[in-house]
Amino acid sequence: MPAKIDHPNTVYFGKEENNMKHIDIADIKNTPEQFKDKQVTVCGWVRTSRDSKNMAFMEVNDGTSFAHLQIVIDKAAGVSYEDAMPLGTSVKVVGTAVEGRQGALEINAQEITVLGSCPSDYPMQKKRHTVEFLRTMPHLRGRTNLFNAVLRVRSVLAEAIHQYFQDRHYVYVNTPLITGSDCEGAGEMFQVTTVGYNTEYKSEEEYYSNDFFGKKAGLSVSGQLEGEVAAMAMGKIYTFGPSFRAENSNTPKHLAEFWHIEPEVAFAELPDVIEIAEDMVKYVIRTVLDKCPTEMAFFNERIEKGIIARLEELISHDFGVCDYTEAIDILKKSGRDFQYPVEWGCDLQTEHERYISEEVFKKAVFVTNYPKEIKSFYMKQNPDGKTVAAVDLLVPGVGEIIGGSEREYDMDKLVAAMKERNMNLDLYSDYLDLRKFGSVPHGGFGLGFERLIMYVTGVSNIRDVILYPRTVGSIR
Ligand code: 4AD
Repeated sequence: MPAKIDHPNTVYFGKEENNMKHIDIADIKNTPEQFKDKQVTVCGWVRTSRDSKNMAFMEVNDGTSFAHLQIVIDKAAGVSYEDAMPLGTSVKVVGTAVEGRQGALEINAQEITVLGSCPSDYPMQKKRHTVEFLRTMPHLRGRTNLFNAVLRVRSVLAEAIHQYFQDRHYVYVNTPLITGSDCEGAGEMFQVTTVGYNTEYKSEEEYYSNDFFGKKAGLSVSGQLEGEVAAMAMGKIYTFGPSFRAENSNTPKHLAEFWHIEPEVAFAELPDVIEIAEDMVKYVIRTVLDKCPTEMAFFNERIEKGIIARLEELISHDFGVCDYTEAIDILKKSGRDFQYPVEWGCDLQTEHERYISEEVFKKAVFVTNYPKEIKSFYMKQNPDGKTVAAVDLLVPGVGEIIGGSEREYDMDKLVAAMKERNMNLDLYSDYLDLRKFGSVPHGGFGLGFERLIMYVTGVSNIRDVILYPRTVGSIR
């Protein structure tokens, strides 16, 4: 009988006799020497199975690693296995970890317990499904290689983002999700209400005053305004939470609910914002390349050939910087027949952004100093009177992943910009107070987490990098 081993990393309620005590497959994969020739218990879902004359084989995955673990059943040993063979069955296996032919550990089964059977109408039978098919079953697609890899990279990226800021004296703050003020002023807020509209209300004002908060409220499109509040006390802050946009954009890069990372830094100007964004993006990509080699090899082979080399290249060079006016010149001289015409003053569309990053710069590029009319009220007005100190980061394959700016910290100029946009100043009194009491140059940016994941994995549709995508016309 092989020696039983301690289960050092996978303690379930600490009790040896606990029925579900088992070892994470990740531990067996990562430190095989610890488990070789020992008795182990593993759990997982059957991902492949094969029955032959004297032997049967199954691969199980418990979600802790990208790689499956092979279970070998010697039929002569009399282990009952037939009920465990259907794909999707959840099992607990007790057996001996031995070195298989390929050098990786596999488990010679002594006992297999079916935890949950899986009938033949389990939809994940085929080896490869289209992403469109998988989108129709978000509750099961996590059990495919693609989503296993995406969710794992997503988790590592999230940790890396926290690490980056935590190591550099940023304070993590949680800004409100329900708000009374629209940060971007683009009218894309979902309304939050507990009362239905009723024609008996004499005015909008009366309707809203009867609502839960006593005035109109919505889901925040960005935590920036409150992030600025925090930065005016804590100096350097970042948020990492969901933002909501009722944008009617049914595109591969828009979600109605996306995760947003928003650092805000006091005593900083536009070049500082650019430097932080570049440094952070490089840091998190380096971390994923180091920590997720198996997942990245999968993306490299199946999703986007050459993606690892492309990311390595990206982080080893400076990002480009290009003034908006220069970008418009480049686009006009390109000879390209863009769907959206290009004129100074227009907003850059994805086709323009991708042309600039993919074909002109062939790398990530910051576009700066946009016309003030197409940007938000809070951006610092440049001396030319026409542009603001805005910055977007465009990357090949995706387009914009970051939008940010230096903020207007002069009270008079800020108020003028808000009045030009017919904004209700009363709703922004906290924000204006920051300009009154010890205003400082400051700035920050917003990084769309799903867009970053798309860029790092090569997955081309934003619906496939989040567990449950929320998009216009679709929810479950
Ligand atoms: O450019 P945006 O609208 O900027 C802001 O919200 C600023 N308040 C950020 C700041 O300065 N603190 O959004 C920032 C980023 C975009 O570059 C994009 O990556 C992402 O958020 N984003 C979306 N991602 C997915 N779906 C959507 N509908 C998105 N809208 C914006």
